[in-house]
Amino acid sequence: MNKKPVIIDTDPGIDDAMMLIYAFASDALDVKLVTTEAGNLSQAKTSYNAQALLSYLQVDVEIAKGLEHPILRPLEVAEDIHGETGFGTITFPAPTLPLSERGAVEAMRQVLLASDEPMTIIATGPLTNVAALLLAHPEVKPHIAHISWMGGSAVGGNMSPTAEFNAYVDPHAAEIVFRSGVRITMSGLDVTHKAYVTLPEVARIRAIGTPFAQRVEQMLTFYLANMHETPFHTPNYSTTLRFHDLCAVIAVTHPHVFSGMDCYVSVVVDGQAAGTTHVDYMGRTGLLPNAHVLHTVDRDAFVDLFVDAVTRMNERVQDA
Ligand code: RIB
Ligand code: CA
Repeated sequence: MNKKPVIIDTDPGIDDAMMLIYAFASDALDVKLVTTEAGNLSQAKTSYNAQALLSYLQVDVEIAKGLEHPILRPLEVAEDIHGETGFGTITFPAPTLPLSERGAVEAMRQVLLASDEPMTIIATGPLTNVAALLLAHPEVKPHIAHISWMGGSAVGGNMSPTAEFNAYVDPHAAEIVFRSGVRITMSGLDVTHKAYVTLPEVARIRAIGTPFAQRVEQMLTFYLANMHETPFHTPNYSTTLRFHDLCAVIAVTHPHVFSGMDCYVSVVVDGQAAGTTHVDYMGRTGLLPNAHVLHTVDRDAFVDLFVDAVTRMNERVQDA
């Protein structure tokens, strides 16, 4: 199978960790670079977490540190959901993978220009790094096939009544990316709240029975206990886990698992509604669509893909 060359921009965080496990277990992706965002935690913590997790997964990939804070707004983190370390109560052995000497923007620029085919960027945090790249180096745009972003929401936010966390933390970056002309698939809360995993499905991971599987299950248990969302989409929301970031990567490997619509999306950048993504489902703006906005998912297929990925990664990880 021809693997799709991708760059992953992430702010690990527990659901980012699940996305990374899936991405590196997938036969469909060739992850050329991981860049880290300030979002769920500070840049220092998300960079360290990327090093620690990917070292534990025994993968060999460049990890490049991103910008320290959003373009204009002060950084707001989500340690209440992901824990002080970002992985709940679990820790990983000291990382062996170093941080790249290149910063995230320069690493993305060079990797994109060196690729012999246009690449996909999978972004699962605020879009600060991606916006900075597109502003500083517009020459990379033809080298980006597609940005698959977890963020935004057409109906309802999780940081304010209308703003989702990744868009809320850096609304200016999100607006810059939506104006960039690069093709975007948006996995907003409309679809991620339907991409949930139930406790019996988490038990399938526990049943694998290895230290790796126990770490995954412990992260999920912490995540469930600390999610404050009460999404109207999700039945039994208090006993289900919304796998936000996993949507952005599975939308790349298995797009048929989702359905969505091409819409014009813009981002409110200031005031009480800052971070709100206005999704023009009905074409009321008269503006051409700039994103494919996902709204439904085949949840059974989604969960099976995740559990299969954990199982495959488990076979590769000789527990440190
Ligand atoms: O709103 C959900 C998003 O915010 C996810 O990317 C999660 O990791 C947090 O960053
Ligand atoms: Ca994230």
